[in-house]
Amino acid sequence: MSSTADALLLFGATGDLAQRMLLPSLCALHSDGLLDPDLRIVGTARSEMSDAEFRNFARAALEKFMPANRRSGMADFLNRLSYQPLDVKDPAGFKAVAEKAARPGEKLAIFLSTAPSLFETTIKGLQGAGLTGEGARISLEKPLGIDLASSREINDAVAAAFPESRIFRIDHYLGKETVQNLIALRFANIMFEPLWNSQHIDHVQITVAETVGLESRVDFYDEAGALRDMVQNHMLQLLALVAMEPPTSFDSSAVRDEKVKVLRALRPIGPGESVTGQYRAGATGGQIVPGYDEELGRESDTETFVALKAHVDNWRWKGVPFYLRTGKRLPKRRTEILVQFRCIPHSIFSGTRTVPNQLLIGIQPEENITLSLMAKVPGLDREGMSLRAVPLEIAMPDAFTGVHRRIAYERLLLDLIECDQTLFVRRDEVEAQWAWVDAIREQWRKEGLTPRTYSAGSWGPSAAIALAERDGVSWHE
Ligand code: BG6
Repeated sequence: MSSTADALLLFGATGDLAQRMLLPSLCALHSDGLLDPDLRIVGTARSEMSDAEFRNFARAALEKFMPANRRSGMADFLNRLSYQPLDVKDPAGFKAVAEKAARPGEKLAIFLSTAPSLFETTIKGLQGAGLTGEGARISLEKPLGIDLASSREINDAVAAAFPESRIFRIDHYLGKETVQNLIALRFANIMFEPLWNSQHIDHVQITVAETVGLESRVDFYDEAGALRDMVQNHMLQLLALVAMEPPTSFDSSAVRDEKVKVLRALRPIGPGESVTGQYRAGATGGQIVPGYDEELGRESDTETFVALKAHVDNWRWKGVPFYLRTGKRLPKRRTEILVQFRCIPHSIFSGTRTVPNQLLIGIQPEENITLSLMAKVPGLDREGMSLRAVPLEIAMPDAFTGVHRRIAYERLLLDLIECDQTLFVRRDEVEAQWAWVDAIREQWRKEGLTPRTYSAGSWGPSAAIALAERDGVSWHE
């Protein structure tokens, strides 16, 4: 029997994520013929709106957030949509939602794009209306808690109504093509895996740099900070994909079993292994921008930058530091993973230095893979061979010209509709991530660590540079 959903019920259908990402992604999937013609999409939120008004609302969002050349199927797509207003705090209201979204014997995919504080109430409402039965699956957006205890509460509330096999926790980084390509690079090629260990790798750097500040999100963000907002989820997922053992197949249990082993093997961060920062006024992209404290309107101890030296305590990664760094208002938007190989064991080239190989995986905005190799500089070399590091570079868009690149939510929504959990985060992963992050916060408390300031447009506080340089490592910039 097909496990493809017959209807998608979208909570928070008038929210920011729905307008920017979810509706455009669904429209793109529709236009490319990837949605079953009978799939119904039912939106719900507090605003009173008729079906026709919701379609107009969705049209406006698509016109604003979707490139014109991707909107070919828009009119037809809008016909799939309907809407039911709902205050999730009113259990009686769920009956009308159920009448619109669910039909006997059908499969229902539910997507909660609402504040996590509403998850529990919403799930109780769904249960009361009979919308959590065997044919139903549920997807949740982060933040899933602010620490391990609150994350467990959310997970327990969801687990009271849905088994793990029907819970889809989103980390949108896993939906990115280039993040999936990391799995392809490691496990569809023979040449990296034999070298992928402490014998050949000196260290790994993971950078998620953003140029944006907080502006309208500053109140939400002030409760979270960079560690919870970026490290707990996206960066640890990237680390897990880099460090995991080869799964036996590209299947939801096999992949997630391997990731969780890495997350559980993370050594608690020790004294001096973390640096936090908060941006002050400065310039990015040729523009003068205010400081975090000015945006917030008061002083705060929330970090907008964090750098960590992490270790995965297992045989493969013994003694290999993983340097992680993320921040707002940095000079460039750039997500990348650098794998720094060790020096060759013995050089036969006297008088010339060999530079250790590097593999640089650019995730965004440029999607490229660069392997630096030593090569002979052309010439007659009367005094010994002259060598230089040269890049072997693959730009993914050039390698796949004419192939449309999907945004993360297209992939994740389609997998949710088709019930494939491989790119969703399992409960044990989320909890291992929180356990590690909670210990870091505890360490900060013990050390009395507060964020150092950095100017917007810089690479964070100078202590972050020192964190790596103490080990003779320079951040890749
Ligand atoms: C979100 C964070 O999860 O990811 C944001 O809450 C951050 O603060 C965003 O800006 C980054 O996502 P992307 O896809 O733009 O790298």
